[in-house]
Amino acid sequence: MPVDLEKLEEHFEDAPHDIALSDIDLKTLPRHISCIMDGNGRWANERGLPRAEGHRAGIGALREIITTAVRLGIDVLSVYAFSTENWKRPKHEVNLLMHLFATTFLEELPLLQRERVRVVFLGDLSALPRRTQEVFEQGLAACSEHDGMVLALAVNYGARAEIVRAARLLAVAAQLGELDPATIDEELFAQKLYTNGLPDPELVIRTSGEMRLSNYLLYQLAYAELYVTDMYWPDFNRWGFLRALASYQHRDRRFGGISVSKERP
Ligand code: IPE
Ligand code: IPE
Ligand code: MG
Repeated sequence: MPVDLEKLEEHFEDAPHDIALSDIDLKTLPRHISCIMDGNGRWANERGLPRAEGHRAGIGALREIITTAVRLGIDVLSVYAFSTENWKRPKHEVNLLMHLFATTFLEELPLLQRERVRVVFLGDLSALPRRTQEVFEQGLAACSEHDGMVLALAVNYGARAEIVRAARLLAVAAQLGELDPATIDEELFAQKLYTNGLPDPELVIRTSGEMRLSNYLLYQLAYAELYVTDMYWPDFNRWGFLRALASYQHRDRRFGGISVSKERP
């Protein structure tokens, strides 16, 4: 995506001591960055607040990260907002999250429109409350013509469910005689995933220190670089994002081959 250098530098003014915009190479940024937004509950607990306040504070961080990714010219930003396992939480927390998803999406529409962000959803939306589904549909329609960064929101998303769904879609097509099973390859399989058309994430950022994937994009993350920060999601910001990018740019991505950069001639 094109970058407005002036806006970018303004966005990263007042750098903390350990990181600055000049620490990253704008020419080799990942195309797709994904965030596992974790730690809202612990952020609230540490402040003696109800978990709901942690989720509310998390929205501010999401807003900042969306703007930051747009400023940096990232093609795709995906965020894990609600997993297929998160239904196990107390009903009042699930209800609050569903309510927050709808109201936040409406409130953030002007930002998404101003920045020409195209929104896509990853996950089974049919299980969400009707009101949340309606708002998502409205928002999708309002953002569908945008040509800017893609924001992929993973809501009621689970990677195993996604893979099983893809297998089922292919099996049905084969059963109907529309598909020869011998032609199923990785590319065709990927087309049946929710991320169809998006590049695989090169970098995954997980906040709150947990070193696990929690059923997130298991197929697509085959060769992603993982970055874990102890910061809770509500505290995560443009500088944390920059630190993750700097770390990513120091990695030696080998994809099973041998290191090109460090090899002797
Ligand atoms: C992430 O924060 C938000 C969602 C999973 C919806 P958590 O709610 O998981 O916060 P912790 O992990 O309990 O601190
Ligand atoms: C992962 O966080 C899911 C989202 C961020 C939506 P969780 O808090 O649900 O993950 P676990 O339970 O710690 O693995
Ligand atoms: Mg959590």
